[in-house]
Amino acid sequence: MRLDKYIATHSEATRSLAKMAIKSGRVEVNGEMTKDQGKKIKPTDVVTINGAELEESSEVYLVMYKKDGVICATQDEEQDTVLDFLDGYTHKELHIAGRLDKDTTGLVLITSDGQWSHRVTSPKHVCEKVYLLETVIPIEESYVEAFANGVRLRDEPKATKPCKLEILGPKKARLTLTEGKYHQVKRMFGAMGNRVTKLHRESVGGILLQGMRSGDFRELSAEEVARF
Ligand code: URA
Repeated sequence: MRLDKYIATHSEATRSLAKMAIKSGRVEVNGEMTKDQGKKIKPTDVVTINGAELEESSEVYLVMYKKDGVICATQDEEQDTVLDFLDGYTHKELHIAGRLDKDTTGLVLITSDGQWSHRVTSPKHVCEKVYLLETVIPIEESYVEAFANGVRLRDEPKATKPCKLEILGPKKARLTLTEGKYHQVKRMFGAMGNRVTKLHRESVGGILLQGMRSGDFRELSAEEVARF
């Protein structure tokens, strides 16, 4: 990982503060001062700012392949929540960064870091979310342009942001959104007079499930954490 990104990931500093610290000669890598912001840092390298070593973050960052029927809530008396499946992770601040419906499967990010989850979900940050879906009636070519122009959903003051629809089969498509309104995919197809029967999230911000199976979870790499 680049030095400036490494500092931003392993400390409270923002990327620009990290750059300033490097420029002003306050950063050492393995005991040697460097002003190279893009210097590649390996996991074994020791990075210090003002002589203080940066430590591994104590925050938790996980990706889960959510099963059908599990709810995205931190706790529930009756139903299984995604957090119930995180054996060994009892961090009290764990929460979900971008929920999925109970009947939607796929990628869910879970973290203890509130600032990070805010960056994942805030409308101010563009973060692509990719969905695979199936519908009850055929998907028409006209949806592609309608979705690219934005669709007006009931009770929403503004149209949805432009998004990309790839038709994969008569009733199958991939949709890439850059926002996350409530039930957005289902409501967009509803606005076209169609209905989503199956929904799966493939990726968020370029993070993928990478061979994971339904119900699996894994820790994000430092590089994946630093993407947001
Ligand atoms: N859009 C939906 O309609 N449901 C989800 O679970 C995610 C996006």
